Amino acid sequence: MAGRVAGKVVLLTGGAMGLGKAATKALMAEGATVIITDIDEAAGRATAAELGCDYLHQDVTDWARWQAIIAEVEASHGRLDVLVNNAAITVFGSIADISPEDFKRCYTVDVDSIFMGCKAAIPLMAKSGGGSIINFSSAAGNKPSPDLAAYNSAKAAVVTLTKSIALYCAREKNGVRVNSVQPGTILTPNVESVIAGTPDPDATRAAFSIAQPIGRMGEVEDIAHLVVYLASDESKFATGAPFIVDGGLSIA
Ligand SMILES: NC(=O)c1ccc[n+]([C@@H]2O[C@H](COP(=O)([O-])OP(=O)(O)OC[C@H]3O[C@@H](n4cnc5c(N)ncnc54)[C@H](O)[C@@H]3O)[C@@H](O)[C@H]2O)c1
Repeated sequence: MAGRVAGKVVLLTGGAMGLGKAATKALMAEGATVIITDIDEAAGRATAAELGCDYLHQDVTDWARWQAIIAEVEASHGRLDVLVNNAAITVFGSIADISPEDFKRCYTVDVDSIFMGCKAAIPLMAKSGGGSIINFSSAAGNKPSPDLAAYNSAKAAVVTLTKSIALYCAREKNGVRVNSVQPGTILTPNVESVIAGTPDPDATRAAFSIAQPIGRMGEVEDIAHLVVYLASDESKFATGAPFIVDGGLSIA
């Protein structure tokens, strides 16, 4: 099947690598025009050149930049059909270890950015009859660990923020659907480097794999396929929902 998102204009944050890059590839293969943004300019431009999409420089925590980017997308493409709020950071630490500054930094990048992205994009999406917003949460939002106080709670906040925005859009009848995605551990370059940085990478890799009842980590395509579904009109009755694709991690 090809062309599942043909003609759609997609803005995707944090597209330089990992899940954002894989989702961009999958969306383009199904006919979308994708504009990626990233805070890492060199990696963002390299990915855009490799995949043949556009790149805009963005720190997703900057409200003025969000407004400028949405204005730029309107000027260059005349519409916005899909926003993928993918960019995030993982901040490690227990309640004892983490500083108030690092806790706040995690929320600013992982939650405030999604608030700002939705706030900036919804009016433009509504102008052309609606669209689909896909907010990246995590299975870590369902399954807390003692050493991930900020990330666990930030990713849980994304799920409820998404529901509130989805209900607002439904009440406004503006045609915008808003869903969240909750991946399990996916073997991205970021996860690879976390594994490599542990004292016993083989043991960490095994532990990451068996944490998921299915017995392995996910592949980036496992999530890219979900993004294509949510971006497409196939998901036109889905809104406010957390889509869990995690090898069973959340229920174990
Ligand atoms: N990889 C996993 O196992 C996993 C599991 C569950 C959820 N997730 C979520 O999926 C999303 C993507 O994960 P990933 O592993 O591909 O991450 P990643 O770290 O590989 O990529 C995230 C991208 O976001 C960019 N970024 C970071 N801060 C930014 C900022 N302030 N402004 C703009 N861009 C910024 C980074 O430069 C990077 O290119 C994240 O929301 C993450 O929390 C990942």
